[in-house]
Amino acid sequence: MALLYTIIIYEMAGHTLKLPHPLSDEFIDLINLKQTTWRAGRNFHVNTSMKHITKLMGTMIDGNFKKLPVVTHTQEFINTLPDNFDSRNNWPYCPTLNKISDQGSCGSCWAFGAVEAMTDRVCIHSNGTKNFHFSADDLVSCCSYCGNGCEGGYQSAAWEYWKEVGIVSGGPYDSNQGCRSYEIPPCEHSVPGNRMPCTGEVQTPKCKRTCNFGYNVDYKNDKMYGKHVYSIQSDENQIRAELFKNGPVEATFIVYSDFIAFKDGIYKHTQGYSFGGHAVKIIGWGIDHGTKYWLIANSWNTDWGDLNGFFKIIRGENHCNIENNIVAGEPLLVNNL
Ligand SMILES: *[C@@H]1O[C@H](CO)[C@@H](O)[C@H](O)[C@H]1NC(C)=O
Ligand SMILES: *[C@@H]1O[C@H](CO)[C@@H](O)[C@H](O)[C@H]1NC(C)=O
Repeated sequence: MALLYTIIIYEMAGHTLKLPHPLSDEFIDLINLKQTTWRAGRNFHVNTSMKHITKLMGTMIDGNFKKLPVVTHTQEFINTLPDNFDSRNNWPYCPTLNKISDQGSCGSCWAFGAVEAMTDRVCIHSNGTKNFHFSADDLVSCCSYCGNGCEGGYQSAAWEYWKEVGIVSGGPYDSNQGCRSYEIPPCEHSVPGNRMPCTGEVQTPKCKRTCNFGYNVDYKNDKMYGKHVYSIQSDENQIRAELFKNGPVEATFIVYSDFIAFKDGIYKHTQGYSFGGHAVKIIGWGIDHGTKYWLIANSWNTDWGDLNGFFKIIRGENHCNIENNIVAGEPLLVNNL
């Protein structure tokens, strides 16, 4: 799907092919000449495989999966919303709001955006009494109707699966946390470092219905579920209301090659071609020097960009389709149905 997108955009705008290589210094300089609200810089080593970069955008923009029911918030409630909102300050007792994941060389952004928001929502809806980290590994490997695992998936299906089948607990690669920790290692996509290079050559893990060795709960008994899962219409105020009331949401937007070089400020697409759909978790909003933005957690580790792995993007104009595909849900606060 990501590839399909790239080809369509190539055909529509053949001239973009003449741009410098997306990871070159020339391209970064060109972005900085054109943009006014953000700063571009080097996040990915110049020799990072383009196969890896393309693979990161693993969200298949829904279409083939049914649309989840739409939940609407009232105008009275919308009128009470603040100008600035950061989930991390609003629910300080939920530490996962500060967490940034690393999907590695797997197109599992659709799963990370989902399990991260589900994890925050269990904490938020239990007033901080339940901390349950949903396993991206379980979702990526076991949800067959979600799409193609590391080759991309549907975000609506991820939430539906949470409600219908449930998801076990997990944690980062090699952490041995929870029932199924992530099986794909982080790779070195940034400036030279100690992790193994990103190649884009990763297989979807096998669906294992057993927990990490030493974990003391059965796979089946470990699962937690969604109570309701739904979508939010493409409307800035509806999205703000949902965030404020229930916690972070999952969104998908189109990643253009300039986004890869985001460092800080508020991202606005300036140039470059499309890499495809990328799912992320929106955690807040604000206004900076008169520019409205969404505050978002990415899943490319904390050393992507200069905001510890978070970024900001223009809000209120469905920029890069960021407001088009909002999904979320309410957790069922008991284990083991
Ligand atoms: C990138 O790859 C080229 C060709 O293999 C090599 O000459 C160059 O030194 C590499 N650049 C870096 C920064 O490693
Ligand atoms: C959380 O706190 C709110 C407000 O005090 C209360 O209405 C709600 O029942 C609490 N939820 C849980 C799961 O304890």
